[in-house]
Amino acid sequence: MKPVDALTEAEAKRHLHMLILEIRGNDELYYEKDTPSISDADYDAMRARLLAIEARFPNLITKNSPSQKVGVKPTGRFGKITHAVPMLSLDNAFNDEDVRDFVKRVRKFLNLEADRQISFTAEPKIDGLSASLRYEKGQLIHAATRGDGETGEDISANMRTLRDIPETLSGTGWPDVLEVRGEVYISHVDFETMNAKQEHQGKDAYKNPRNAAAGSLRQIDPSVTAKRPLKFFAYAWGEVGAPLASTQYEAVQNLGKWGFSINSQTKLCASSGELIAHYHQIETARSQLGYDIDGVVYKVDDLALQARLGFVSRAPRWAIAHKFPAEKAFTVIEDIDIQVGRTGALTPVARLTPVTVGGVVVSNATLHNEDEIMRKDIRIGDRVEIQRAGDVIPQVLRVLDADREGRSDPFTLPKQCPVCHADAVREIDEKGKEDVIRRCVNGLACPAQAIESLKHFVSRRAYDIDGMGIKQIESFFEKGLVNEPAHIFTLEARNADIKLETWEGWGETSAANLFAAINERREISFQRFLYALGIRHVGHGSANLIAKHYLSFESFMAAIKWAAPKEGEVWGELLSIDGVGEAAAGSLVDFLNAPQNAGVVAELLEHVRVIDAEAPSAGSVVSGKTVVFTGKLKLMSRDEAKAKAQSLGAKVAGSVSQKTDYLVAGPGAGSKLKKAEKLDVKVLSEAEWLALIG
Ligand code: IVH
Repeated sequence: MKPVDALTEAEAKRHLHMLILEIRGNDELYYEKDTPSISDADYDAMRARLLAIEARFPNLITKNSPSQKVGVKPTGRFGKITHAVPMLSLDNAFNDEDVRDFVKRVRKFLNLEADRQISFTAEPKIDGLSASLRYEKGQLIHAATRGDGETGEDISANMRTLRDIPETLSGTGWPDVLEVRGEVYISHVDFETMNAKQEHQGKDAYKNPRNAAAGSLRQIDPSVTAKRPLKFFAYAWGEVGAPLASTQYEAVQNLGKWGFSINSQTKLCASSGELIAHYHQIETARSQLGYDIDGVVYKVDDLALQARLGFVSRAPRWAIAHKFPAEKAFTVIEDIDIQVGRTGALTPVARLTPVTVGGVVVSNATLHNEDEIMRKDIRIGDRVEIQRAGDVIPQVLRVLDADREGRSDPFTLPKQCPVCHADAVREIDEKGKEDVIRRCVNGLACPAQAIESLKHFVSRRAYDIDGMGIKQIESFFEKGLVNEPAHIFTLEARNADIKLETWEGWGETSAANLFAAINERREISFQRFLYALGIRHVGHGSANLIAKHYLSFESFMAAIKWAAPKEGEVWGELLSIDGVGEAAAGSLVDFLNAPQNAGVVAELLEHVRVIDAEAPSAGSVVSGKTVVFTGKLKLMSRDEAKAKAQSLGAKVAGSVSQKTDYLVAGPGAGSKLKKAEKLDVKVLSEAEWLALIG
């Protein structure tokens, strides 16, 4: 793109006209429809270019230029707020069996006696957007979206316009610090009125109340949000200066007394039978409630028990969302495409005649793998029933006209990668079982795998580089400028040749911002670094466990080298990490010892420094110690014992070795106890262990 300095007045006028249309279009997508089509960096670059042209040709400034709108910030959208306590999500239950399992799991974890009663709350799961409101000394300090659970967007100004949200808490008894969490939503009646207005003004209608709520919350100008009929239900809390009550039910009742709307459909239940009965009651009332819900949430009522239960990765053990059945529809398979993913997996994707399912237009569905296609005998041209549940990718349930004449041939997956044409095979594991997934064997030499790996590398839980998203990776990759992670970190040094600021959609500011964001990531946590490598079976949770275990990336890499034969002490240690299974351990060893991958990592390490994971909180007598549990425990379940030990900074291993500090042995302990005695490992009874950890 021509630099602003070089534009003639006629050219400047044309450019301005185009930029105004583009910015307006994108504002509408972003604020009104909640479906931004370009990155923040691209957007900022467009605005920067517009301002630069207007600065050079002030006579070309028109009334309808975005620069003339009051209340619109020239760059950036919302600030960020780090949640004092992460905002968790919920595990799902899809049927009665899952609910009974949930109750059993809770009872088992807590090791409850058969006759010990336990209560749960059951309440509607509101289909809106969650938000967290921080009050200090009774005053609203700020409000944030959920974001990735750790950090959200600062939407204080917009949230202050909601009538359901008190600026000052009422009543008494609230703690000095109180983070109230709940759902922002729009009622059915308000949604209808709002859409009627939209249409009256010649604007597109919103797809559903949730989208309308999202769009309304993202307004830059709070006076626009103020005109939107947003409501808020409080149902949870984050950081609190003092306990809100001793039960979930009372705590939420207190939120009600302090000025929040709480849901009247909440009920206390004493068994899975009662939970399921209340679920059906809410399901029957669903259409009369006046707002969208997508299930019922069950929570352990006793807050002391909630604390004991804690959470696994991003979801509490003490709650579950019982989802309403998925929405279904009929359509036709127009074609089947093959996508090649980060790990080389060939995934067949059905291109469908677009159809509305539960208020959303669906035009693609995953077909999973070739066995699934065969089992359901899915062919191009078939009429099929599809289903969509929540945010998950739509699925094809069944073929409707399997006996019709003139069907196309059965669909088979290619035996070669459609992108790089290398062989695509189904691996056979040690037990002789064939993998259901067919994979391209070409690794990072396959362009599809390389680009998908790069997208994963910059994704939110990995490097999370501001301004470097899917689109930017695609464009750098296509131009041959970034083929592997390390290249991201040399972009700035190469910019004299690249001249990013002159590319379409980029400007001085956005290019500088991108380089700054990249430089910020030259130091990265062990966990993010490992996760970013995109190793099969190594998700964000196992990367975390591994980082906590080895603490430094160097010692981890040394261990991986020694574990290469997949036997012996070092391999055993890797396997002993609770939560790291054989599949993850095997793929770590295979991946990191493969010369090409080792090269990619080594090159990356020339540009970035991996920060050691934090040593487990000192202070606890067992922090940093390795503990093994064996035999039957009486006072708590094995799972609770493990979780407790981990929360105190201990490492829990599955087998006894020289590295074991304590073996906690209950009645019935066998070979582990013998081994511990042989290795002179300290053996404790359950009571002694509890006394030790206090
Ligand atoms: S409790 C730690 N209760 O569902 C538990 N969540 O799928 C925090 N949601 O992120 C959530 N209604 O946005 C809870 N009555 C309710 C809810 C609810 C809707 C949302 C919430 C959460 C998501 C998880």
